[in-house]
Amino acid sequence: MRKDTQCVHSGTYVDPGTKGLNTPIYTSSSFEYMDAPENVYPRYFNIPNQKSIIDKLCALENAEDGLVFSSGMAAISTVLFSFLNSGDHIVLQRDIYGGTHHFATAEFDRFGIAYSFASGTMEEIERAVRDNTRIIYIETPSNPLLVITDIEAVVQLARSRNILTVIDNTFATPINQNPLDFGLDVVTHSGTKYIGGHSDICCGAALASKALIARIKPSAANFGGSLNAMTCYLIERSLKTLGIRVEKQNRNALLMARHLQLKSLIRKVYYPGLEDHPGFDIARKQMKNFGGMLSFELDAAKIDPHRFLKNLKLITPALSLGGVETIICAPVTTSHQKMTDAERAQLGITDSLLRLSVGIEDPDDIMADIDQALH
Ligand SMILES: Cc1ncc(COP(=O)(O)O)c(C=O)c1O
Repeated sequence: MRKDTQCVHSGTYVDPGTKGLNTPIYTSSSFEYMDAPENVYPRYFNIPNQKSIIDKLCALENAEDGLVFSSGMAAISTVLFSFLNSGDHIVLQRDIYGGTHHFATAEFDRFGIAYSFASGTMEEIERAVRDNTRIIYIETPSNPLLVITDIEAVVQLARSRNILTVIDNTFATPINQNPLDFGLDVVTHSGTKYIGGHSDICCGAALASKALIARIKPSAANFGGSLNAMTCYLIERSLKTLGIRVEKQNRNALLMARHLQLKSLIRKVYYPGLEDHPGFDIARKQMKNFGGMLSFELDAAKIDPHRFLKNLKLITPALSLGGVETIICAPVTTSHQKMTDAERAQLGITDSLLRLSVGIEDPDDIMADIDQALH
């Protein structure tokens, strides 16, 4: 099946009693065990509604197996702590979601895990690798500057050094990019974003080979960040429209990026689908389309970002991303607030940088709102 068909059909469990078209919601947290092949329990990541969305996500990411979590951070932290031991080292891409950056700086030291940040270039990633490096962790396109990292090159380097690779594929979505096809080991998602898609769900996922998921699952059960059946059902419902939502967001984002480039009050537009983006060629190689996220830098000398945000009428300044509605945020005060000033300066996250999560509205309405606020 192709992507749009997988979105609709993969993983659906047909109840033999009713033959309804949708997977029933199995609310039980207690299941009889006497004749069962395994003990079933929500925290063991094996209740029917979890299995249903795992099957759909596996189809979409070309994965053998997966786990669904109560948040994206639960997925990321569980995956990393499943493989890292005291004395190990991890290389993380520097330009990543601020929460993941903060997770590393706040948690690793006290477990005796060494870490280095590297820009998304292969030279820096290679330079950061040590003899005890266990994991290379990347995010491409990255939050918030849409840095493109060469997935195949990272895999090649990691394999030559026997290092596990983990990618946060949230910005790309499983519609636009399938890192496992390039040999990457573990894909994580904040399902709170495009997978949920309606700004009303918090969840996460990890997808990989059967063997790797079997390594993660025992720690996942210990850490306890599984997802409840009701939310699993909502995710299954959301995933049915993932393909058409993302397709529209891809189109709208490219139109927005081109429109913003023409504005004299905007100094720079970061979108990997623009020919002058430094990662354009690599993005074209590893992505089917460029996604619904972009960032832009207002001309700080001429326009106050706070005032600009206050003057938007349709686009809401709001946390998170990936929903059907267009929202905007200043990473400095939201997603990347916990970074130090020096860390933000090193990345190029300024007070005038704004991150736009482009929705599925009519693009003319979104552009008109930007224009009137700039005016
Ligand atoms: C790229 C990326 N990864 C991970 C996360 C964390 O996801 P969650 O908030 O679902 O824990 C976020 C949240 O904004 C994100 O933008």
